[in-house]
Amino acid sequence: MQTSNNIIVGLDIGTTKVCAIVAEVKKDGLDIIGVGSSVSNGLKNGVVINIENTVASIIKAVEEAELMGGYQIQEAIVGIAGSHVRGFNSRGIVAVKSREVTQSDVDRVLSAAKTLAIPLENEVIHIIPQEYIVDDQDDIKEPIGMSGLRLEARIHIVTASSIAAQNIVKCANKAGLDVSDIVLEQIAASEAVLTEDEKELGVVLIDMGGGTTDVAVFSAGTIIHTFVIPKGGQSITSDVSLGTKTIPQEAEKIKTKFGIAKESLARKDEVIEVPGFGGRPPRTISRQVLGNIIEQRMAEIFMWIRKNIEKNGLENKMLSGYVITGGASLIEGCAELAEDIFGAPVRIGTPIGVGGLTDVINSPIYSTGVGLVLYAFKNNKNKEPLFKKGGKNIFENIKSRLLKLLEDFF
Ligand SMILES: Nc1ncnc2c1ncn2[C@@H]1O[C@H](COP(=O)(O)OP(=O)(O)OP(=O)(O)O)[C@@H](O)[C@H]1O
Ligand SMILES: [Mg+2]
Repeated sequence: MQTSNNIIVGLDIGTTKVCAIVAEVKKDGLDIIGVGSSVSNGLKNGVVINIENTVASIIKAVEEAELMGGYQIQEAIVGIAGSHVRGFNSRGIVAVKSREVTQSDVDRVLSAAKTLAIPLENEVIHIIPQEYIVDDQDDIKEPIGMSGLRLEARIHIVTASSIAAQNIVKCANKAGLDVSDIVLEQIAASEAVLTEDEKELGVVLIDMGGGTTDVAVFSAGTIIHTFVIPKGGQSITSDVSLGTKTIPQEAEKIKTKFGIAKESLARKDEVIEVPGFGGRPPRTISRQVLGNIIEQRMAEIFMWIRKNIEKNGLENKMLSGYVITGGASLIEGCAELAEDIFGAPVRIGTPIGVGGLTDVINSPIYSTGVGLVLYAFKNNKNKEPLFKKGGKNIFENIKSRLLKLLEDFF
């Protein structure tokens, strides 16, 4: 099998599946050439709780992707999620020393913006520049040379539990992979499903997976808010299992085959057969009953998101509405229910912006994996892996890269 510098690999270690996406760098973008997927048994709510099982799932997904792509995978960019992830907006303000903004003013204002009380057990994984403000002029990307008395920088900072991040790296390393970067899963997914226009006008990206629902809010082309809801498709399956008195494996099948997110969308005469267990005969239930069970849980998750958006005063800024992706968005009627709750346009997002095996990855399930390769393509060109197998202090590497990123941007 070949190895190549023109290959980027995304590893989405999800709560229900691990997926490896192999992309080839072309002149005009990325071609997906390999996809591997395996059942994930080592995570709970987006966080690794069993190293051995997770490593086994990674190895399986990677082997499948290697076979399809015809390349040996040595390094990957991985996603991170879970309720330990926190997003903050921060700003720094300084006086401009010589009435014209210089590099030294920029350095000082960034230091001021980065000064946040981050708990010891957490680490910064993203520093996302938003804008500079010189006196009253906002939305400035390059302030050096501008005249003014006061310089302000606005940035979005994402932190994650050090232990959770270390365990992800450990699993990838034990599966034989170097880790080139760790990326917040909803930031990755947004790379694959959102258009630049949507980000500019204001949009909420919702990645509804199995264990978590991850949210990223964009306005004026940049991330302004991120948060995680520790519920997803698995909670819906549990509710279906309880509500229809069937085992979780059957409930999962019923949900994916007949599930509907709004009771009122199912016809009155539609019935579903529910297998019996322990020797009991099968029963029939109305599809509306199934819809009622699913609607309650999905509505709860959407309400949770709506409240968070409102609490942050963002509801009127989302002119492009909401984009939902992740496996749970495949439930029929998901967009309709979300529109009712958000009172804004909603679409289901599948990966865009890549070539190659587009028919294979044409599902919301692959948004994070495809987003990881797109993120790497845009942000990490020609970089050494952050976390080599057997490497030690992973966050020293992240810090120096983030600082370099800020320097490059500003
Ligand atoms: N056709 C379908 N209809 C309804 N639900 C589906 C369908 N296909 C998958 N799902 C649900 O999507 C969920 C998995 O989504 P996804 O693959 O995005 O999650 P994940 O990445 O493994 O988890 P997470 O991101 O939360 O860690 C499961 O709960 C599954 O039941
Ligand atoms: Mg996921």
